[in-house]
Amino acid sequence: MNNMDKFIIHGGKPLIGSVNVSGAKNAAVAIVAATILSDEPCTLENVPEISDISIALRILYEMGAGIRIIDKNTMRIDPRGISNPVVPYELARSMRASSYFLGTLLGRFKKADVPMPGGCDLGDRPIDQHIKAFNCLGASCAIDGGIVSLRADELIGSQIYFDINTVGGTINAIFAAVKAKGLTVIENAAKEPHIVDLANFLNTMGADIMGAGTDVIKIRGVSVLKGVDYAIIPDQIEAGTYMVAAAATKGNVWINNVIPKHLESITAKLRKVGASVEEYDESIHVHADGPLLSTSLKTLPHPGFPTDMQPQFSTMLTVSEGTSVVTDDIFDNRFRYVSELRRMGANIKVEGTTAIIQGIPQLTGASVRATDLRAGAALVIAGLMASGTTVVENIFHIDRGYENFDDKLKGLGADIRRVADYEPKRRVI
Ligand code: EPU
Repeated sequence: MNNMDKFIIHGGKPLIGSVNVSGAKNAAVAIVAATILSDEPCTLENVPEISDISIALRILYEMGAGIRIIDKNTMRIDPRGISNPVVPYELARSMRASSYFLGTLLGRFKKADVPMPGGCDLGDRPIDQHIKAFNCLGASCAIDGGIVSLRADELIGSQIYFDINTVGGTINAIFAAVKAKGLTVIENAAKEPHIVDLANFLNTMGADIMGAGTDVIKIRGVSVLKGVDYAIIPDQIEAGTYMVAAAATKGNVWINNVIPKHLESITAKLRKVGASVEEYDESIHVHADGPLLSTSLKTLPHPGFPTDMQPQFSTMLTVSEGTSVVTDDIFDNRFRYVSELRRMGANIKVEGTTAIIQGIPQLTGASVRATDLRAGAALVIAGLMASGTTVVENIFHIDRGYENFDDKLKGLGADIRRVADYEPKRRVI
């Protein structure tokens, strides 16, 4: 993998077969960071092999943690060697979830120095609510030269009310509160499946967290957390991406290693556009053969339709019958992929945070550029649906969050190839 790799896709073929979903990126990045809070080594299983995880592991390693890779999805992390709670600048800048080192380092060391996080460019991504939570627990915060510095003599349990629904803010509040003295109550907490998975991980280590998955989470601080073996939940968004790819290509796909309950909002919308979706204990079967219908969609925090599925679903709607209206105001800038889809013939108008999609019979292949992780996945789906050849550039965005995306799609019969995009050096004789 390198930064300049691209995908070349010959589209127009239905996806057929079965695919196994990997561990959840957004749970794994939080849980890898959470190992800092442990007093003993932890073994994590079902960790996705994606570049965001490589960066998170590298940050731990640079701070002094021991990392043993057991196999590509299993690793043992020994946080006891961490002595300097400072996250290296360049590593933090390359992923959003580097903000999780604020909460975990503060919880363990009562101090943290972490560069302002990077990650997907979805518009302005403030961390004011994270800082509000740290302040409530007794930490001071200063931002200087792009570094966020937290300091506390001790962390004291408190009431934290979030002004907006924030996944990252909720997770950071949990991290600091598990090691605070006494009871913390988080109100208007986010309810995403990865928050429940993180709470399960921490509770297995000996934390006392109640209510994860509801909007009130109660945490009684503890002084010691023990090492555990823990398997990450399946990735809701990766599963949803294959579900949509199956319907969009008029395919017939079994998606295995999923928790169907986490996929309900996606399942309901796919049925609305005319796809058949059957749920089993740990699998979902999606097939579509008739015309796809238009629909309206608004993204919402869990259990609503996830913003991380909006680009993929909107891409499918470009070839549905009629007009669809899609509203996504969770981030300011989640329609940057639309101008790329227009190169493929899509008829989409964006007004503020709403896209109006007029269905056309088929997209046509073109050269397009991934603007962020989910936009990249959407453009690959567009290439699979389109006639002719599509080239998707900047696929390092996709490698941040999808394990073996091209190989898994090839297993479903897709004609997709990864090529290194480099200029060969001219030989001077
Ligand atoms: N926000 C604030 N202040 C804050 C925190 C958030 O104003 O202090 C705003 C954000 O700007 C945004 C909204 O609140 O408008 C929601 O942001 P949230 O904090 O929930 O998002 P996040 O934690 O930065 C996580 C996922 C995203 C996913 C969102 C929403 C991780 C590592 N990232 O981001 O995932 O889109 O929740 O569900 O868990 C992805 O996987 O592609 C991805 C972008």
